[in-house]
Formats: sequence, structure tokens, C-alpha cells
Amino acid sequence: MTVNIALGLQWGDEGKGKIIDYLTRSAHVVVRAAGGANAGHTIKVQGKKYVLHLIPSGIVHPETRCLMGGGMVVDPMGLLDEVSELEAAGISRVWERLGIAPCAHMILPWHRAVERARESRPDAIGTTLRGIGPCYESKASRFGLPLALLAHEDELILRLTRLREDLLPLMEPASEIPSVEEVLALLAPCAAKIVPRFTNVTQEIVDAEKAQNTILLEGAQGSLLDLTHGTYPYVTSSSTITGGILSGCGVGPSLVSDTFGVVKAYTTRVGNGPFPTEIDGPVGEELARAGHEFGATTGRPRRCGWLDIVALRHTIHLTGTTALALTKVDVLEVVDTVKVCTAYRLPDGTVTDVYPADPYILQDVTPIYESFPSWRSSQGLEDENLHRYVDFVAEQTQTPIRVLSFGPDRSQTIDR
Ligand code: IMP
Repeated sequence: MTVNIALGLQWGDEGKGKIIDYLTRSAHVVVRAAGGANAGHTIKVQGKKYVLHLIPSGIVHPETRCLMGGGMVVDPMGLLDEVSELEAAGISRVWERLGIAPCAHMILPWHRAVERARESRPDAIGTTLRGIGPCYESKASRFGLPLALLAHEDELILRLTRLREDLLPLMEPASEIPSVEEVLALLAPCAAKIVPRFTNVTQEIVDAEKAQNTILLEGAQGSLLDLTHGTYPYVTSSSTITGGILSGCGVGPSLVSDTFGVVKAYTTRVGNGPFPTEIDGPVGEELARAGHEFGATTGRPRRCGWLDIVALRHTIHLTGTTALALTKVDVLEVVDTVKVCTAYRLPDGTVTDVYPADPYILQDVTPIYESFPSWRSSQGLEDENLHRYVDFVAEQTQTPIRVLSFGPDRSQTIDR
């Protein structure tokens, strides 16, 4: 019936988990496309908080089928831990409702050791240290290990041996480097749980669509972290935009109806890299405090800044977004004046509202702002100032804002 996409339009942490959970009210199947445990999708239901790293956010709904697409990179031990945590938190039948693409790749301890070595250098990206980049490198070099190998032990041993040899010179010398036998021992209990969950994700999506079910394809990270179109090299190692989501899930664009772009009412970024609207000083700190801007995966403080319409227009184009979900509007109540960047002054003095094609220019642009009086929670969602801001964003981006989120709980969400 309907295949929709939900994805982030900034540098991640836009509140995708919450919006995906909200959209899952009407979805039978939710599919995660790419990335791995670098993501931290937070969902709050009736005061109870769930943080998901690998499992699609739909799992919090008791009947939803959740699929992990072939574009993902999965730490098998991490997946077992995440399922156990969810079951302990009262989520029912997690394994039974999970389907996993065997062509998703395995993140092994060696990938993390390579990343630790690289990130200890002065030119670090500021990654989540989950082994994401090195795993995608192994995949692209054709020496990676798809999860499918968990069902083929002889080939698994051969491939593990080859991969370890390949990665050894790149690993942190001081770190303990597990042997092939040790990694095999770690993988054995994972194989017993994961192999029975293997499925043809493409076929499941097509079948669900034919059966008049609604399917939600879930993006991870944000569009400005896209490997090709993001702020390279300060990006993740997968494609986070619509094209990457379709490729990661294994379906074509003709099935898709709506693409929901999730946008925070201000901007945050974790890790290094350019951030034109970053706010230095007490206002930025106040936003970080009010918005609890600490990474769900690493606990690192997030850098805070104003909403950047120039970048947002660009990511709307990159993703074919048809509707916006604007999150965390309540957080901006802590400031008196809310600013929005509508254009950049380039290093040569010219002003543009078009995102620079050269990603290295971004660090040298000066944002040009429009200012708005803030709103107060005492007036709830009736505050005119809030609606002026929301309407301005919709008008500047030429995109309807269909969902407004004003707090972490599922109930603090309205359709517009
Ligand atoms: P990696 O994905 O761990 O390789 O990290 C690359 C960059 O993407 C770093 O700046 C990370 O902080 C950022 N990043 C990766 N995943 C997320 C996410 O889910 N939210 C926000 N930033 C992320």
C-alpha cells in the first residue's frame, strides 16, 4: 500500500527515533537501512525510555515486524546485548519480530582496534569508535564478512584469518588483539540467534506492500553526514540520504510515497567538522542543557547552533523530502530571541542562499540571520510566536511541516 521514508536532515540526533516511533502507529513493517551502533535512537513512552542502536525503532510497538537491511554494519555481540536489554525492559518477542539481511556486514573487534588507532591521531574525525568506517572499508575491499558467513563455518574461518592479517598492521599496537579462535568463540552464540532470523528483506517489503501493509524505511545519522554529499571528511561511512536508504533496504524508488525529513528546531553536531551556525558561549550551553544534548551512543556533549535554512534546503533536495517533522521546539523556550540562518556571506563578500558545492568552503562562511521572539510553555502550542517560527521554516523551505514535537514523550507530538 504505502512505503514511506523517515530520515534526518541535519548532522544526526534530530529526534528520528521519536518520529519513527510516532509514524509507526500506522506502519506494519519498519526497516533500518544502513549504519550500525553509531546511531542512538531514543524513544520515550509513558515515562519509560528506550535507546536503540541497531534494532529499528518500530520494535517498541508490540506487533511491528522489524527488518535490518543489507546496508547495515552489525556488531553481532552488540545485537545480542541490545535484544537482551529490550526484553529486560519489557518489549515482547524481539527475536521473533526481527528479520535480518544476511548481506549486512559484521563489525568485529579488529575493526574497532583499527578505528581506535586512527582516532588517536591529531586529525581525528571524532567518530563514535564503533568500528563503522573500518567495517565499510573491509566491505568495499571485498575482504569483509557478511553476516551470511555465520551459517558457513569453514568459509567463516578462512575469511576471519584473511581479515585479521589484513587489518593487523592498522591496529593500535597497545590494544589487545583477539585471535581468530577468540573471535570464533564470541561468534558462536551469535550465530545460534542470528542465523534463524535471516530473511530476504526485499521480498518482505514487496510482499508487505502487496498485502496493503504500510512500510516505513528508517534512516540513521543525518543527511549532512552522508559519505558523498556531507561535510567530508567529517562524515560517516555510509550513504544517509534517500538513495542510500533505498539501496540499504534493497528496494527501488517507485514504491515510495512520502519522505519525512526530521529536523530539530535548532542544530546540533557531535564530533569535529564545520558548523556555520554554532553558538559559542552561554546561549549554546543553555540550549545544550535544556535539550539534554549529550550523545545517546557515546555520551559526548553535542555542539549547539541555530537552525540553518541554507543547509536544510540542500538536504531537502538531496533526499526528496516531501514533509517535515520539526522536533524539540520546546527547547527554544529557554532563549529570548531565536535566530535562523537564511543565507551565507562567502569569503569573497558575496551573499548566497545556495549551499556551497565545495564542502571546504563551509568552514569560512558567515551566517546571515533573521531573529524571532521566543515562545513560552505557559502558552503551550497556542503561542503565536511559535507558529510564526514554524510557518517561516515551512515557507523558507517550501515544504509542509506535518509533525511538530514538543517533548520527548510519544504523547508530546501533534499532526499539523
Ligand atoms: P562514525 O559514524 O562513528 O564513523 O562517526 C563519523 C561522524 O558521524 C562523527 O562525527 C560522529 O559523531 C557522527 N555520527 C555518527 N553517527 C551519528 C549519530 O547517530 N548521530 C550523530 N552523529 C553521528
